[in-house]
Amino acid sequence: MRYAGVTERLAKLGSAKWEVHTLAREMKAEGRAVIELTIGEPDVPPPPQLIEEAARAMADGRTGYSNGRGEPLLVTALARRYSARRGRPFSADQVICLPGTQTSLYAAFRTLLGPGDEILVGDPMYATYEGLIAQTGATMVPVPLRPERGFRMAAEDVAARITPRSRVLFLNTPHNPTGAVLRRDDLAALGAVARAHDLWIVSDEVYEELVFPGVPFASPLDLPELAERTVAAASISKSHAAPGFRSGWVIGPAEFAARLLPLSETMLFGSQPFIADMTTLAVSEPSPVAPGMVERFAHRADLLAQALDGVAGLQVHKPEAGMFALVDVRATGLSGREFALGLLADHGVAVMPGESFGDGLKGWLRLSLTVEDALIARAADRIATHATKLKGKAA
Ligand SMILES: Cc1ncc(COP(=O)(O)O)c(C=O)c1O
Repeated sequence: MRYAGVTERLAKLGSAKWEVHTLAREMKAEGRAVIELTIGEPDVPPPPQLIEEAARAMADGRTGYSNGRGEPLLVTALARRYSARRGRPFSADQVICLPGTQTSLYAAFRTLLGPGDEILVGDPMYATYEGLIAQTGATMVPVPLRPERGFRMAAEDVAARITPRSRVLFLNTPHNPTGAVLRRDDLAALGAVARAHDLWIVSDEVYEELVFPGVPFASPLDLPELAERTVAAASISKSHAAPGFRSGWVIGPAEFAARLLPLSETMLFGSQPFIADMTTLAVSEPSPVAPGMVERFAHRADLLAQALDGVAGLQVHKPEAGMFALVDVRATGLSGREFALGLLADHGVAVMPGESFGDGLKGWLRLSLTVEDALIARAADRIATHATKLKGKAA
């Protein structure tokens, strides 16, 4: 039988990226002890008051159909939150609620892109971005994110890759996997390129609440001159340790939301009212769990840096936000994949090869900071031993 081309485009992206993680899971299933630093999930459960609110809402009969935009109370709460944080007014007709950032980006790209269009995206990038772009038929144009700039996207790198087909500049701040946070100046410069070439700016801000102390978060939504071309997507997955609730949103110009609305209706016919009620509570007050995660993840990044910096030429890139740290293993002469496979086989530590996130992280590793300090310390010891042994062999 014949299938639509999109199935082939997505299937080709394949599971190779997850090779080390899959191997680690197989080893664990065989009863072997593995320290798993591959994927990052919040290290605490969702706040109990959110679970209680969802349960209350279900018991109160909030279980019927909703609508394609989202429950009015939630949409209004989001408009209020963005108005307060972004320093300019947002209204309910600029918001659409969708199941998570992932679906929000899917729908946003469906609204903005088609075959023949080009979208500029930072390399390295979050592992699902290729698929999000491939589903539209548009062409991905990677923009190198340079370690010497703290992996913050540079406007001149974008400008050098603009063509008449460029349609969207895709930002992710705070960034996964690098933990970089774009500054207002970066956004102003990137925004000037977007305006000069009439590009949309789509910004994945799912880690907004996990910014480390002293780092200023800024969104392209903050810049009034970008208002007509900026769309942001986020959710409560990270901020409230609630990824399984699948509750997110997209916010942008009212016309953009109006264009996306029929797509949302077609895909979903509305989200769950009881999830909307718990999300309304979540976004109306400061998160009770985000500050603790920030403190723990920042501390663990410090632990890694103290244990590994300079050992056999390794360098830790400390994040400014989020759940991950990067380790530069290029001095060992191995690729990230080769290093990670050896580390897993010889020392039972599973990390993501940088190559899983694009060419920009060849010879790097990404480590999740979501396991307890003692395991981070043990993993760091084993990484140091592995790198030192490799160096000995090379000498
Ligand atoms: C950069 C980035 N965007 C989006 C997502 C998905 O978020 P959500 O659970 O809101 O769909 C993740 C999850 O890890 C992520 O790291």
